[in-house]
Amino acid sequence: MRPGSRSRTALLRRIVDAPGDVARAGAEEFARVAREAVKERGKFAVALAGGSTPRGLYQLLAVDPGLRGSVPWTHTHLFWSDERHVPSDHPDSNYRMVEEALLQSGLVPAANVHRIRAGQIEPDQIAADYEAELIRWFGLGRGEFPRFDLVLLGLGADGHTASLFPGTTALQETDRIVVATWVEHLRAQRITFTFPTLDHARRVVFLVSGAAKAETVAALFGSPETSSYPAGRVRPSDGEVLWILDRAAAAAIPA
Ligand code: 6PG
Repeated sequence: MRPGSRSRTALLRRIVDAPGDVARAGAEEFARVAREAVKERGKFAVALAGGSTPRGLYQLLAVDPGLRGSVPWTHTHLFWSDERHVPSDHPDSNYRMVEEALLQSGLVPAANVHRIRAGQIEPDQIAADYEAELIRWFGLGRGEFPRFDLVLLGLGADGHTASLFPGTTALQETDRIVVATWVEHLRAQRITFTFPTLDHARRVVFLVSGAAKAETVAALFGSPETSSYPAGRVRPSDGEVLWILDRAAAAAIPA
């Protein structure tokens, strides 16, 4: 679907009290979608969000007896919707965050972990290699996009999601599955899913907590059709978007 075009995707939202509740609601959604996907299709393909918000979700999946026991881990395949251009042991690495929060539990078979191999080689090659892995794993033909059962996303105060930042050329990408993108204000390279990839998901779940996001959330929900924020342009044509927000992040949503 053209970036910027609008499907009538339902924007579902669940408002919970605190950041810990965002993690729990997100983890319960992860487990529910995982069971449904494996029951219907024999496997669960999920793209993980980076940043700090989802860490608690990943930790809960690893340590909560009810949750860790309810996810079909042997049929669960983890991907990343974006990555910083740093080695996997770097403090900023989204892979390292998930490794510490979830992978060290040993629940996920190593063959089911499909990380973006950032840091060592050129970003464009990293993006091309990840794209090739997605094409192979999903068995995609020319011009096709992977259809994830679940994509977890965060929200920046500037309205970015994954590493689709305002003012970057990645926002205009309609053919590639994954691209490398220079983010000027961060003076950093990122590797990110493109809008078409996000828009092919069965289910997208945004995880947002904290007052710092309240104004951005209010704009996204106040005028979803006009929002220029990248996060507002994630509109799966055949999928659902669920926003899990804590009260602080949802405080300014217009009545
Ligand atoms: C990243 C994420 C990014 C993140 C938002 C929110 O690699 O940083 O993909 O999109 O989700 O920046 O980050 P916080 O959860 O840390 O607020």
